[in-house]
This record gives sequence, C-alpha cells and structure tokens, in this order.
Amino acid sequence: MADTTRGSDLTRRSLLTALGATGAVVATGGIASAGTPKGNGPTAASSAGHAGAPGASTGSTTAAPSAPVPPVAGLHVGFGEDATSEATVTWHTVSAVKNPRVLIAPDGGTFERSVGAVAASYTDGKSGTVVHAFHARLRGLKPDTSYMYLASHDGAKPEFGTFRTAPRGRAAFRFTSFGDQGTPTMGKQVNGTWVNDNLGSPAAGDTTAGVESLEPLLHLFNGDLCYANLATDRVRTWSDFWNNNSRSARHRAWQPSPGNHENELGNGPIGYQAYQTYFDLPRQQGQTDTTAGLWYALTAGAVRFVFLANDDVCIQDAGDYRVKGYSQGAQKAWLEKTLKAARADKDIDWIVVCMHQVAMSSAKGFNGADLGIRQEWLPLFDTYGVDLVVAGHEHHYERSLPVRGAQQNQTLTPIPASTKTDVIDTTQGTVHMIIGGGGTSSPSNQLLYSPPKCDVIVSSTDRPDATTKGVPTKVTEDAPWFGASDAAHSYGFASFDVDPGRPGGQTTITVTYYEVTGPYGTLSPFETFKLTRPRGR
Ligand SMILES: [Fe+2]
Ligand SMILES: [Fe+2]
Repeated sequence: MADTTRGSDLTRRSLLTALGATGAVVATGGIASAGTPKGNGPTAASSAGHAGAPGASTGSTTAAPSAPVPPVAGLHVGFGEDATSEATVTWHTVSAVKNPRVLIAPDGGTFERSVGAVAASYTDGKSGTVVHAFHARLRGLKPDTSYMYLASHDGAKPEFGTFRTAPRGRAAFRFTSFGDQGTPTMGKQVNGTWVNDNLGSPAAGDTTAGVESLEPLLHLFNGDLCYANLATDRVRTWSDFWNNNSRSARHRAWQPSPGNHENELGNGPIGYQAYQTYFDLPRQQGQTDTTAGLWYALTAGAVRFVFLANDDVCIQDAGDYRVKGYSQGAQKAWLEKTLKAARADKDIDWIVVCMHQVAMSSAKGFNGADLGIRQEWLPLFDTYGVDLVVAGHEHHYERSLPVRGAQQNQTLTPIPASTKTDVIDTTQGTVHMIIGGGGTSSPSNQLLYSPPKCDVIVSSTDRPDATTKGVPTKVTEDAPWFGASDAAHSYGFASFDVDPGRPGGQTTITVTYYEVTGPYGTLSPFETFKLTRPRGR
C-alpha cells in the first residue's frame, strides 16, 4: 500500500536523517526502550548484504550484487495492556535485518526518541519461509495523546505512521469491529485463471477503507483474519493481509481475537504461531510459551476489553488442529479473575468481549452456535455482567436481545431479559453481536432462518486421522433471544461511540452497523441503537 505521510510534511531526506545513518539506537526522555537490541541488533548474526538501499551500487564491477534490503512491510500498531501509556509498533520481513527501530514524536513534535524493536520469528511449516516480526514496545506514553512514528531497519526506507493513546478514566471515544475478512487479492491459478484462495473478496479491501474513514481509537478484529490456513502460499496471504490493512492499522490499534482459521498446520505445537508472531499481544498469567497472548485484556477509558480464544472451548472442530481444551482451564480461570476484577473496579463501566465463534446465530446450515461457549463462557458473562460481545465465524450481521441465564434444555437456550431493540439496558443482560461480514467470499446472510431459529453444535465425532475434521451434531432450537439481522447485504462493520455521561447519570454506547457498499469504503448505515447502564455502577 502507499506510503502514508498524513499529518506530517517530513521529506524522505529528513526522515532518513532523523533515523540516523548508522541506525544507532538512543533511548531518551520518558520512553523506555524495552528490549533495545545490543550490538548490531537481534537478528544481525544472520543478516547479510544490508549495507545499502535497494538497488544501490556496490561500487565494484566484479563483486556479486548484495541482496536488496527488505522493506518495512505490514506496519501496524497494537496497544499494550495499559492502552493509555503502552503501544507496540510492528512490521515484518522474510529475511533478517539489522537494527529494527522506531523513532517516535508527539504529533507535530520532533523525532528525538528511538526505541529498538524486539525480534520474533516463525518458520512456516508449509513453505519453510522464515518470517521475522519486529515489535517496538513504546512505554511511558501520555494518555489521550497523538504520536507520530517512523519505523525502519538499516538500509530500509522509513515508514511513517501515527496513533493515539487511549484516554484514562471516563471519556468519549470510538471503536469499531468486524471479523472474517480474508484478502482482496488472488493467490493461485485454476485452469490458467487467477483466483482468491483465502476465502476473500474485493469487499475485504472496502471494509478496511470503511473502518479507516471513521478513525476509531481502536478496531476489534473478531477472528478469521485472512484464512491463510486455506491458502496455497500462507506467507503470501499474510503479506497481502497486512498490505491491505496497514492503511488503517498503522494509524490505530487493530486488536484481534484468534479465529479457527488462525490455526495453521505445522505452525507451532497447536497452530497459532504465525498469529502470535505477527501480533505482540500481552502475555497473561497462566499462559505458556504455546498459549502466550491468545487471550488478553486492555482498558481504554472506562471500557474493559476482553479478548478470548474460543477454539479452547468450542465443540466444533474447525481449525487445522483439534485443540479443544488446550489451555486446560487456564483461560477460563483467567477470564473469571479478569471479569471479577473489572466489575469490582469503580473506574470501569463497560465490559466488552471480543471473540470468534458465537453463542447464538440464526444462520441455517452454516457453522452454527457452539454449546461449548454456552457452557463455559455465558455463565461467567452473566455473573459479572458483561455488557457486549462481538463475534464473527458466521459471515453476516446479527444481534441478540440482552440475554441472561439459560433454559435447562439440551442446548441451554439463552433467555432474553428484554425485548427492547432501540435502547438496551445492559445491566439486564448481555448483547451479542455477530459482525462476520469483514470481506469473505462465503457470506451467510442469505441463509438466515425466518422465523429465526438456531443450529446449535452439541457434539462432534473424534478425528479419524490427524488431518480429517470431526463431524458435528447440531440441534435446532427456537431463537427467543433474536434481536435483528441484515439479510440483504453481506459486508459491513459496526461502530461504537462511547459517551461517559455525567456523574450520577447514565453512560451510553451508540452502536451503528454500516453496510460497506463499494470501493473507497462507501458506507450505508443499516441500523443504530443504544446501550446504556448507570455510570459508576
Ligand atoms: Fe470465518
Ligand atoms: Fe471461523
């Protein structure tokens, strides 16, 4: 994607000067250099031929030309656990580099501070390609403040980005959400014709443009990012994914939960190593090297965002590996502790959960709702008063009424606490939204039951062999919890405007679901509704 220089008139020469000819790293002021590389940088030992810019002459007519320096690719931002003071700038290459680093400045200020990036890598189990990711962990930032940054490694053209830290305490801000995107590019040939092989479509580019047009503080990505596990060339698909989304993700945190399609054969013990390498997600107590970052939480304003990894509890066997139960209860224990602390925190009003597979869906003959989520997560959502859940996996838009408790039947049908769909008091129940129209070529909006019903996955056969998925058994229930759905259009995302309200009053989140109807992120509002709860209680 095009180099973006929004908010700055810096020239390339001044950027290169700012980064320094030698790439020396200096940490000054209030910015701590987390993991600042020593010597020539974390990957210097295996680096070769990085002395000059791409295409630069070696100065010799006999020496072999040195390999070009890889560009700063896939630039993006993520928040740390404290989104008011911590952010990470990440990019990646498919060869080793020297001195990966970020220069950072307050918006409109000067680039005086440099932070060395921590290197991570994985070897794609299919192609053998080594992907190197570089995470510059910026700490000690000021809340509710805009920053500019330049990311580079020795010999590479610096790439420019911006981000804003989260406000601290009760404050207004916007977040957005979708899942199930894919890429808008083609990855393989069938009978001489190029086709998309990652369940993507041109809409996968339009949704990104739509999100960026609303300039949220952060974007919640509800899993099934790019379906690389389906692709002929998985590393290319990730590259295409980042090329598509860096347009927005270099300017605001795109915070993911892993979907079943982030589970890739041969990439780590349980398949998530690519995902865990491209993102620098905060490791939680109880996580191992294998599960690091798969579930996490962060706070922005008075909203506690909780990101779950649902393959751990889902009955449906839908990834490259059969991984149900992989955390051995660690995620559930962490979730209970996290929700309990959030609900007891007088500075938190809202608890928002981002996850992939769903507890409710009215699509017929698609994935369906998973009883595992109803058994493992929903009682905790009830106990600690989760306000909102955003999910994907089903490839359409739908929302539930606020639900609390369950019928004591085979499918544990959630019970609606109210039939209101315009202004919803989330102290009565949790609203679940499916926002799975991020761009896939396999939408489910044409498959909705009318009147609404739900296919619930209640069991699955074991795998007959390592790579053949188990077969689910589904039970169809009535859907008294159904709120609204968009049967007419396949693609879109939701925007959430948090209004902290006034002391003694209500705080609200105004939710708008936008259909994405064309290129340039053309939007058409489908519906707007309000979530409300007493401020400070
Ligand atoms: Fe999906
Ligand atoms: Fe999925």
